[in-house]
Amino acid sequence: MIILRLILTLVLGFPLTFVGAAEPDALYLTWVDDPTTTMSVVWHGGSTFRVMYHPIGDARWMAVIAQPQVVPETKTTVYVAHLQGLKRDSTYIFKIEGSRREFKFRTLPSHLSREVRFVVGGDIYYHWGTEILERMNRAIAYDDPDFVVLGGDLAYTTGTKRALKGRLWEIERWQSFFHILQRTMITKEGRMIPLVPVIGNHDVHPKGLVKKSYPAIFYEIFPFPEEGKAYRDLKVGTYLKFVLLDTGHSWPIEGDQTEWLKSTLRGDKTPYLFAIYHVGAYPSVYKYKGHISEAIRKNWVPFFEQAQICGAFEHHSHALKRTFPIKEGKKDPEGVIYLGDGSWGCPPRKVRTPDELWYLARSESVNACWFVHLSKQGALIEARTPTGEVKDRVSIGCRE
Ligand SMILES: [Fe+2]
Repeated sequence: MIILRLILTLVLGFPLTFVGAAEPDALYLTWVDDPTTTMSVVWHGGSTFRVMYHPIGDARWMAVIAQPQVVPETKTTVYVAHLQGLKRDSTYIFKIEGSRREFKFRTLPSHLSREVRFVVGGDIYYHWGTEILERMNRAIAYDDPDFVVLGGDLAYTTGTKRALKGRLWEIERWQSFFHILQRTMITKEGRMIPLVPVIGNHDVHPKGLVKKSYPAIFYEIFPFPEEGKAYRDLKVGTYLKFVLLDTGHSWPIEGDQTEWLKSTLRGDKTPYLFAIYHVGAYPSVYKYKGHISEAIRKNWVPFFEQAQICGAFEHHSHALKRTFPIKEGKKDPEGVIYLGDGSWGCPPRKVRTPDELWYLARSESVNACWFVHLSKQGALIEARTPTGEVKDRVSIGCRE
């Protein structure tokens, strides 16, 4: 039926919307391409293929047809529409055709002609109620960021306790996660904040726990530049670049991923360059000698140090931490700072103190995300709690 309607639409120009089209089950924004001129709109369910949009100040609607894909073993269809050729640093109104609800999105500037803001946090929709998560989301929206980076363990849909629940349960939990974000992470102007996902251990099933006849749902609900590969870079204009890495959940740390990291960092002169991934090289709760942490320090950290990246955001420990700048396994003012440690919406764990671990400059058992404000003068990076309290602050200069 879906394919037939798509063919009718493309070939004959038949109307795409049925009268009384259902609202989508989930709606969110992300990027697989240039954040200054593109936006990817994703929704689940509903009964239409098109996203309608126009820039503020020009009310003529434009339309893009989405690619639908049924998530196997569920009744959910995920639609992905890639909007291209957008004006830089501009606000658009958009809606799913047939929906009564309109939202806004904003593209990013190509230069730091204004302050650009983003928030980084991980370990988000935990199984302990949603009050903290919703408060954190509202604190994020209040800061009016251009986008958020979700640092892994987004909705806790997998893991040993969740392995037998099935894909229907998984997709419903993902949708419940997106509903919460859609309701609470909207700026006061009604702008939806794009999501940049990073993979964590609870986003795909551990090897051998479930039959893997289909791709993990994580890869069906988020589009990536390369299908089935969550490690990638994301470049924003002339001033910002992220390397978004997979700490061994779908792709091994060693081998292809490390080779790719080496080549993408080699000679990079972007003024603001950050690495973001899930499991920490310098954890505040888990063991320093954990095998994933050791693999990151052995394979990736030398390239972070060589490239003199501005900072690495880590997660997974469920606490707040900031390390001293570190180079070659020692405190060094020329080294890299590691900020974490994954406590957006999960219960904070008992964290180790700077007295216990040589690399910790600051740690606390508290819910927090990192709020980053970039300007030509430098970056202000603050750890804020769900009530907006600033728990830590660091300023860094850009690499030029
Ligand atoms: Fe984790």
